[in-house]
Amino acid sequence: MTGGFPAPSNQSFSDGVTMGNIGITELILRDAHQSVFATRMRTEDMEPILSKMDKVGFWAVEMWGGATFDVPLRYLNQNPWDRLRLIRKLMPNTKLMMLLRAQNIVAYRNFPDDLVRKFVHYAHKNGIDVFRVFDALNDLRNMEVPMKAVKEEGAHLQASVSYTISPVHTTEYYIKFMQDLENMGADSICIKDMAGMISPKRAYDVIKGYKERGGKCPVELHSHSTSGMTGLAYQRAAEAGVDVLDTDISPVAEGTGHPATESVVYAFKGTEWDTKLDMELLLEIRDHFKTLVKKYRHLIRMEALRPDPSIVLHQIPGGMISNLVSQLEQQRAADRLDDVLHEIQKVREEMGYPPLVTPTSQVVGVQAVMNVLFGRYKKIPKETVDYVKGMYGRSPAPISDEIKEMILGPDWKEQIITCRPADLLEPEWELRERELKEMGLYREPEDVLIYAIYPQIGLKFLKGEAKAEFESDELPLPIDHPATRAFVKSFFPEHDDIYLSEKDPALMVKEALDSAPVKKAKPEGPETFKVRVGENDYDVTVFPQGTGPGMEVARSVPNAPRADPKPSAPPPKPAGPVKGEKVRSPMLGTIFKILVKEGDRVKKDQPLIILEAMKMENEIISPRDGIVAKINVTVGQEVGSSDALLVIS
Ligand code: CO
Repeated sequence: MTGGFPAPSNQSFSDGVTMGNIGITELILRDAHQSVFATRMRTEDMEPILSKMDKVGFWAVEMWGGATFDVPLRYLNQNPWDRLRLIRKLMPNTKLMMLLRAQNIVAYRNFPDDLVRKFVHYAHKNGIDVFRVFDALNDLRNMEVPMKAVKEEGAHLQASVSYTISPVHTTEYYIKFMQDLENMGADSICIKDMAGMISPKRAYDVIKGYKERGGKCPVELHSHSTSGMTGLAYQRAAEAGVDVLDTDISPVAEGTGHPATESVVYAFKGTEWDTKLDMELLLEIRDHFKTLVKKYRHLIRMEALRPDPSIVLHQIPGGMISNLVSQLEQQRAADRLDDVLHEIQKVREEMGYPPLVTPTSQVVGVQAVMNVLFGRYKKIPKETVDYVKGMYGRSPAPISDEIKEMILGPDWKEQIITCRPADLLEPEWELRERELKEMGLYREPEDVLIYAIYPQIGLKFLKGEAKAEFESDELPLPIDHPATRAFVKSFFPEHDDIYLSEKDPALMVKEALDSAPVKKAKPEGPETFKVRVGENDYDVTVFPQGTGPGMEVARSVPNAPRADPKPSAPPPKPAGPVKGEKVRSPMLGTIFKILVKEGDRVKKDQPLIILEAMKMENEIISPRDGIVAKINVTVGQEVGSSDALLVIS
């Protein structure tokens, strides 16, 4: 290995490794299943194969970070710290890697420095060897504290470049950025191409350019197979002197995942880039994941497995597309995907070309969804406001004054910040620790991080109130399981009742269609239909007899015109008057905060409730002046589109 890339001393492969060989970072325990089946792999399904994986001699195994902190709490009722400790115990000889979203830690907003430091400390203490640190905006100010924290812990600091394509993201830009990361103390550098857009030429030019100009850090290339050209990019990266490549064991590889480990290992066999990994052992590991993938098949979308060359044109990561699809499904607008993909281009340009990676992918994606559903910038989530203020960091290209004014209002100049965003944040650790102790929920310091980073779902988890979407012994899920429906429905948006099954698909379709009218005859809740008036679509909700106010327009604003939305076009007037009293949820989400109490006097446009939807905070505002007569919801409650949240008299 070049550049002092240390391998754990007791690894069987280390004596066989010579200069020029390429190392492999195996992603199956984190990014692979995050990209291919929504991060749902449960800890007990990893456990049986860990000892074998420990024998391979991967340069590192990425197994934590990003959604693997969020999803276990939110959907699996599992403690991410327990997973880390288990993997550490069963893989004593392999470097464990985590992805750290810089100042965002493993969530979607900036956290104060004390929480960042505590997180790095406890992550390292529980077993993380390599911290792959990235900032979505490549803003070095956001990377400073986490990078220092990693160095102070004595862990391996892998600083990352978030790769994207835009007029400002040139080869020169990347080389300069890599030099900056080296100067800030990086032990190695990752080119993190989260959308799989890097072309073979670009991979070569950036890596070669950095090395030729005296770059000393080993370089690791992380790319997804989305575009279909990643294998070629890996070859050119090898020619340019890349030190490590990121891959997935084959059953969860390719598509929105990454090139297959076995394929890359075999491709370089006998060349100057030989990985020296044992193919036999890799194939044994493959058998475990082949079986596993069958269990989780209800989560796998066919389109996620195929290459999508259009990615280089629309530049939207596969994971983000699958997110958008499910967000649109939740809002019953799955047919608007093309409009949203188109709108994302515009929003991204208006936002100064942020790379589409968490959390800026969320900002751009959700704003685009809202623009399509409600009209351009008619609904602006808090995250968009924060982004434009500079709370996420500096945008790669400047945002125009016009957009700033539209998002922030006429006094936008006073709202923009120019300092490091985290400088504005108060320390939180002691406060969160005290709160947790007062609630009687504190068992260990790691709990404080669960609570501080995910206040809602973290607390629910720590209270023992979280419910697992499914357990491993229930897999594969029955066809009528809500998780199965939600994921598979996307293939057949027009039929709600078709599932993947071991049964004959033709029979399934027939049964589903036969049973549909029976179900419709006695609906249990309100039903939503799309109605087209002129060129506009309206969502109309019909309540079953005796349970609702008959028939009414679900939203006060109709869906945006189906055609390319025009910035200047105001949203058309609603089709009918909405009764003034009830304030309804515009979308499916969770009540995050209630800002008023019953009896409060409120003004028109005053924020009443913060609704968390699509992982973003959305303000629900008062439609009129009045008094809060009744609040129908509680914090943490899930609400559906058009549910009455409160009543203004
Ligand atoms: Co990735």
